[in-house]
Amino acid sequence: MPALVLLGAQWGDEGKGKATDLLGGSVDYVVRYQGGNNAGHTVVVGDQKYALHLLPSGILTPECTPVIGNGVVVDPSVLLSELSGLNERGVDTSKLLISGNAHIITPYHVTVDKVTERFLGKRKIGTTGRGIGPTYADKINRVGIRVQDLYDESILTQKVEAALDAKNQILTKLFNRRAIAVDQVVEELLGYAEKLQPYVADTVLVLNQALEENKVVLFEGGQGTLLDIDHGTYPFVTSSNPTAGGACTGAGVGPTKISRVIGILKAYTTRVGAGPFPTELFDEDGAALRRIGGERGVTTGRDRRCGWFDAVIARYATRVNGLTDFFLTKLDVLTGWEEIPVCVAYEIDGKRVEELPYSQSDFHHAKPVYEMLPGWSEDITRAKSFSDLPKNAQNYVKALEEMSGAPISAIGVGPGRDETIEINSFI
Ligand code: IMP
Repeated sequence: MPALVLLGAQWGDEGKGKATDLLGGSVDYVVRYQGGNNAGHTVVVGDQKYALHLLPSGILTPECTPVIGNGVVVDPSVLLSELSGLNERGVDTSKLLISGNAHIITPYHVTVDKVTERFLGKRKIGTTGRGIGPTYADKINRVGIRVQDLYDESILTQKVEAALDAKNQILTKLFNRRAIAVDQVVEELLGYAEKLQPYVADTVLVLNQALEENKVVLFEGGQGTLLDIDHGTYPFVTSSNPTAGGACTGAGVGPTKISRVIGILKAYTTRVGAGPFPTELFDEDGAALRRIGGERGVTTGRDRRCGWFDAVIARYATRVNGLTDFFLTKLDVLTGWEEIPVCVAYEIDGKRVEELPYSQSDFHHAKPVYEMLPGWSEDITRAKSFSDLPKNAQNYVKALEEMSGAPISAIGVGPGRDETIEINSFI
């Protein structure tokens, strides 16, 4: 019954695609359980680079069944264009399964996302503008549209009517926008129905049966722990639960089935969008991390904010996710620094604080307390085992492991599929 959850331990963009892909060959199912096309995984296979937004990374591994779980929000136009883009490159996508209970991102959700952000002005969240928040809001308000609704025109029309009733009032009266016509939305959505039909399935049943048959199921989180709607830096978060519990609700699998929870941890820190970020750098070092690490969003093309490693956040991620292991990524990006600062605690209003404060105001005031670790200058991209790493790189990894509270079982030393050091096997 090996069911593994793989999730971001920071603010997303930790390099999850590479980690999922590494496990791809030994995994039977890769399941997305939350988020939508706000995510962005880059997977490098040989000399081919793939940018995936909505599809699970397992789509690139022929033996693997990729699954979009009930907790995901699906933009059908994005999904279909992602599928046809892969088909054109010779990738077989026919095994994909989509939960009939997953909610649909409609054009009005995208509109509401964009106008809301504009309305918030300098208080904006910095969303990806993909309609994620409004779609989850409709789900919780019980006026959402689900994939299964595409197969009953009368129900679909009633539901779109119900959703647009209030929304059109807000769009026209508050945001000064034109009302959205129900029949236009219904027509567009029905246009996707036939194309999506072959993929729609009872994914909860499929996954639970697979676990009973001892198949390996990998649950792949989008975004990261600190962007979680409950456990992240609210309100500067996404509208779903990337944390480990989200895998259970977002895929319909009980917590007793999960055997391992792996946190993907970048060797430094990045964040996109607004919100607090204690170790953020505004100097040459920040610019160098961005340049060397290629820190530009796969989905939005926005430059990522960059900073040093924050062990307080890593410890927090261990706790709220019950992490069993870490996959440390992008260690090679740190090559060349004489000394590398690591944030070991915060100073808040003159007091040293070891753990992430629950109070938003405190976190906004948190100043990093740094410990300096000696750097290395040797190229590490060809290292195959831990002992191939220079002593100082080994010590950096060991220090992070000790501060973060879970063993580091793999280390990424370059973007390629084979540029990974495996210390303990995940399966
Ligand atoms: P939303 O998910 O588009 O609503 O955006 C909410 C916040 O989450 C914004 O700060 C986004 O930049 C951030 N965000 C959403 N998806 C990702 C991701 O995949 N990586 C990093 N940040 C993300």
